[in-house]
Amino acid sequence: MDTPFQVLPEVSVLPAHAPIPGVGFLPINAFVIKAQEPVLVDTGMGIDTDEFIKALKSIIDLGELKWIVLTHDDPDHIGSFRKVLELVPNATIALNAIAAMRMNTTAPLPMDRLHWLNPGDSITAGNHKLTALRPPIFDNPTTIAFYDEKLNVLFSADCFGAIIPSPVQSAWDIPEEALDGGMTGWASSDSPWLHMVDKHKFNQALDTILHMNPKVVFSSHLPPAQGRLERLVKLLRAVPDSPPFVAPDQKALEMMLQQMKPEGL
Ligand SMILES: [Fe+2]
Ligand SMILES: [Fe+2]
Repeated sequence: MDTPFQVLPEVSVLPAHAPIPGVGFLPINAFVIKAQEPVLVDTGMGIDTDEFIKALKSIIDLGELKWIVLTHDDPDHIGSFRKVLELVPNATIALNAIAAMRMNTTAPLPMDRLHWLNPGDSITAGNHKLTALRPPIFDNPTTIAFYDEKLNVLFSADCFGAIIPSPVQSAWDIPEEALDGGMTGWASSDSPWLHMVDKHKFNQALDTILHMNPKVVFSSHLPPAQGRLERLVKLLRAVPDSPPFVAPDQKALEMMLQQMKPEGL
């Protein structure tokens, strides 16, 4: 877990970085929107829960949080959710119904505190309207991204993610070549179905984001990207034609374990 930082007067990032051995880091971001009814978007990794709660408290008095918005039920998005739930007993939890049903298999959710959303549905967090949409790239069927109309920003869930060489606070601080390779690699590994996709339909989904034209993309897996949306979209358009990702195999694991052994063993 890294130090939180503010991007817009109303949006703070709770950043973490999962190391990918030999490759770099995967940013894992949660966000706080200081709306009239403050919103927490996602809850980081479980391995970070104590630090996550500390970081969250440094941004907002937990009693003020009115919404916990979950983009989907993957472990890197709901890691500290149960702890947050305990500490924020009055917030409404906005998520897709299927995510709620799946999370209920771990421990029961307070059903009367849930707000179920499908793409196209909105919640009103005081002076902010957050509209759910299906992002062009996702790794989980329960995924919803969120568009904040007032701020004209997009919380894009796993879409627009990248494996990056080192933690930074802006996508544009990543060297150009590293961003190109890191975003293509992430999209290909996280959503292998992109290599089977109808490219015309995929491009239409990307065009929807271009027309929306958010001034900042807040991806769960990229430092905030202010402006230059065309560049990000162009990178994703090329993913279906990129070489499919192949995960490290047993041989790679054995090599890694060998390197981890203390000298002399
Ligand atoms: Fe995911
Ligand atoms: Fe994720």
